[in-house]
Amino acid sequence: MIKPGEFVQTRIRPMELKDVQRVHQIDVASFALPWPERSYRFEILENPASHNFVIEVVPDDQEPVIAGMIVMWFILDEAHIGTIAIDELYRRLGLGRLLLAESLLDAHQRGIRQSFLEVRSSNQAAQRLYEQFGFQVVGIRPRYYKNNGEDALLMTLKPVEPERLEMLCNRQRPANPGK
Ligand SMILES: CC(C)(COP(=O)(O)OP(=O)(O)OC[C@H]1O[C@@H](n2cnc3c(N)ncnc32)[C@H](O)[C@@H]1OP(=O)(O)O)[C@@H](O)C(=O)NCCC(=O)NCCS
Repeated sequence: MIKPGEFVQTRIRPMELKDVQRVHQIDVASFALPWPERSYRFEILENPASHNFVIEVVPDDQEPVIAGMIVMWFILDEAHIGTIAIDELYRRLGLGRLLLAESLLDAHQRGIRQSFLEVRSSNQAAQRLYEQFGFQVVGIRPRYYKNNGEDALLMTLKPVEPERLEMLCNRQRPANPGK
């Protein structure tokens, strides 16, 4: 396992079909209502609005491991964050922030100017992450989650500011100063 401060090379790249099994594994471990595997195949193969990335970590002398994923849907100039998760083993290393920041930077280059998402009202970790980006709560979707009737908070980021995203990309990158 990688600990904060250890050297971690990271790579963010578009999600491919060969990633689906691993991505689904992370999804199942991360959410009470995971997507079926076929949803990821649909997003990759059939949904032109879908923009999906994985983040890989490359421990020294080892094969890359997918540590997390994001799915975004572009609608006009808006990016809806459909899902984002980091494997529990790799949390609190800055990878979620890096993945979201790089994905929104890419989105901005493609004309996206605002973003929105739903998050469980109890999900403090995700809410703190989104707040770092400037997402603000603009509404509540009552009993949005079918498993326990929990409310969703609707959060939006407007405008998407590349300067802020670049700052977030560079913040606390996993790094070993000795290397
Ligand atoms: C939310 C999630 C993606 C964050 O990923 P991560 O890589 O662990 O997050 P980072 O290390 O990049 O943290 C970025 C910021 O998020 C906040 N954060 C992350 N985890 C947190 C936690 N457990 N408690 C409080 N704040 C947390 C902090 O503000 C953190 O900044 P800091 O390290 O400077 O304090 C991850 O916890 C996860 O996959 N959760 C399960 C799936 C999920 O809930 N997805 C969101 C659905 S809306």
